[in-house]
Amino acid sequence: MARIGVLTGGGDCPGLNAVIRAIVRKGIDHHGHDFVGFRYGWAGVLSAEAVPLTLDSTRGILHRGGTILGSSRTNVYKEADGFERVRASLDTLGVDALIPIGGEDTLGVARRLSEDGLNVVGVPKTIDNDLAGTDFTFGFQTAVQIATDAIDRLHTTAESHNRVMVCEVMGRHAGWIAVHSGIAGGADAILVPERPFDIEEVCNHLRRRHQNGRSFSIVVVSEGATPKDGDLITEHQTTDAFGHVRLGGIAVTLEKEIEQRTGYETRMTILGHVQRGGTPLAYDRVLGSRFGVAAIDAAAEGDFGKMVALRGTQIERVSLDEALAEPKLLDPELYETAAVFFG
Ligand code: F6P
Repeated sequence: MARIGVLTGGGDCPGLNAVIRAIVRKGIDHHGHDFVGFRYGWAGVLSAEAVPLTLDSTRGILHRGGTILGSSRTNVYKEADGFERVRASLDTLGVDALIPIGGEDTLGVARRLSEDGLNVVGVPKTIDNDLAGTDFTFGFQTAVQIATDAIDRLHTTAESHNRVMVCEVMGRHAGWIAVHSGIAGGADAILVPERPFDIEEVCNHLRRRHQNGRSFSIVVVSEGATPKDGDLITEHQTTDAFGHVRLGGIAVTLEKEIEQRTGYETRMTILGHVQRGGTPLAYDRVLGSRFGVAAIDAAAEGDFGKMVALRGTQIERVSLDEALAEPKLLDPELYETAAVFFG
């Protein structure tokens, strides 16, 4: 029997509670472990702020969005005596191993803690789907569905008013959400970080559509898309504890540029955190449950320094090193498929 600490770090994400519930259910019923949940990601580990996670406290949470543990973007290695404080907190609470559920940043801390000798098994979470080593992260499908529903609704106004509608989606420096929701929502142009765009080419494309008899267009833009001859366009100046600039707002610029250059009435919508909120799709509940079960099994076997991952239809274990070597960017073939429908 061991005591395991669970935490959720980074942006909240649909399916987090499914993972927590699965870890605790299998861990108690099958392995006889007991659990503490750290509050607010690595912040709670640093300050030893923890709550017991039991069968009772994890009941009825499967369908709930967000995380019952809370989350934050805390970098242990940016804090004074970060590693020592983590170790002291685990000692005080009698925690033998950690299961952090997070993206590149949260699992980046996990990898360093593992290198520094702690027992860690990671679970890949992010709506951005940009973690290597796994075909999908949980939360992504829900975000794509929310964005697709929004694009469907934007079609209404696009058609009624003969407008260009620009829809900005999240995804950081990867265009997965943009391309998936763009294909599903029938976008006429999709701008992604992996393919810097020329605004005049985008406008030419819209002009051609309109000359060919189309009266409206839908442009999906990823928050991290960049112009060929420029830098990231964001409305914000701030960076987080991992040095990432806060993205969002490229649609504001696109709205102005497209309307000025083409003369077509243009409106933009920034979906923002709507994409992370609300109940997870069945897919993410299932994937989260599978990840949770696989993570506690790995911890029970003492197979640390790993991340559970979806490979094809199977859940496997990959090293944290492999998962974090570089971000998983958009598959160019998928973009070409999306482009078939731009005409
Ligand atoms: O990584 C998930 C994500 O939603 C990104 O798509 C987005 O850029 C970022 O988090 C937003 O972070 P925050 O909630 O801290 O503003």
